[in-house]
Amino acid sequence: MDSEFRITEREASRVLDRCDTLAGLTEEPGVVTRRFATPALREAGRHVTTWMEAAGMKVHRDAIGNVIGRAGDPGLPTLLIGSHLDTVRNAGRYDGILGVLVGIACVELVRDLPYAIEVLGFADEEGVRYGTAYLGSSVVAGRFDHAALERRDADGVRMRDALKEFGGDPAGLEASRRDPDDLIGYYEVHIEQGPVLENENLPLGVVSAIAGQTRATVTFQGQAGHAGTVPMALRHDALSAAAEWIGVTEATARGREGLVATIGELRIEPGASNVIPAKATLSLDLRHGDDATRAGAREELRDRAGAIAAKRGVELDWSIVQETPAVECSRELTDRVSEAVAALGHPVRRLASGAGHDAAIISTLAPVSMLFVRCAGGISHNPAEAVTLEDVAAALEASVRFLEALR
Ligand code: HGY
Ligand code: MN
Ligand code: MN
Repeated sequence: MDSEFRITEREASRVLDRCDTLAGLTEEPGVVTRRFATPALREAGRHVTTWMEAAGMKVHRDAIGNVIGRAGDPGLPTLLIGSHLDTVRNAGRYDGILGVLVGIACVELVRDLPYAIEVLGFADEEGVRYGTAYLGSSVVAGRFDHAALERRDADGVRMRDALKEFGGDPAGLEASRRDPDDLIGYYEVHIEQGPVLENENLPLGVVSAIAGQTRATVTFQGQAGHAGTVPMALRHDALSAAAEWIGVTEATARGREGLVATIGELRIEPGASNVIPAKATLSLDLRHGDDATRAGAREELRDRAGAIAAKRGVELDWSIVQETPAVECSRELTDRVSEAVAALGHPVRRLASGAGHDAAIISTLAPVSMLFVRCAGGISHNPAEAVTLEDVAAALEASVRFLEALR
């Protein structure tokens, strides 16, 4: 093994140690949960700031709480490298975090570039706390929806107030937009979160595109009633309507190539065993690589929900929370990433991402590229998320070669 590879193995080991450190910064002891604008996220930002400064970077937090480190003189063309610092509930320890820490490691490994590198640790990508994903990257891209500031979390806390409490600045979000004029592009290293690389025994993959996604809130409003006295035929049971629609949603996605539909949240009111449910509120996450197919499926599911509600004498409320179009990665940058992977002797496997990534939002600001790292069993959004030291070292090696190729 040549000495250079030994260096990246040491760096890879440090990246994994830092992933472990951040995994301990959680809202829920014993599991990894780090949502937007929480003390756990602020603590993670402090650690990342320290590591960026140790790598010689100038660090600042922007108005939404992104942690941004810069290596390179003002005025130089700039490559952005980033990913997110927040997590889903009971998360793994690599989703998002790995990309930020690999970015810092790259700054440590590659010196005297003719361009600057900015590493961004986004403050929210998952959208767990407020339902709208990409709060961090949408501010950088100048795409932040200010109406979201009035959204309330499960505890009734408005985003505006949580952001101020966090040390952010709702009035400064516009000014935190990144001027694209000096940007070379954006690069994100991320675990695959799927089984393709493992099935093909590949450590790395090159992302060609990112699927589009629809997030919606679907509410069935029926009528509470006594569980013992209301005959079945006279009920307006909101949960039964929701259950029928959930079955229709799954069958629709199973029947359409490349379509995935997930109902990850369900709230029942009043929520007592002897009361017919009056209200059922669900989250819909719908994705496809082709926007027209996704839009068609979305309208079909909405129509089916309306028909079920009408049949059962139940009211339907259908509210789109967020629409994110499918994104093609930059051909030119992706070719450089592919060449870097090939230079390590690995086959170049291009694949589309079913998962959303900050790259999808940053693509409105600059050309984007992504490198996938194999993860065990393709498992993610799960504490069983795992990567190997060798694969992280390979990702570092490929990233260093990618940065050198941009000289
Ligand atoms: O939901 C996603 O695709 C990403 O993990 N935020
Ligand atoms: Mn995720
Ligand atoms: Mn992610």
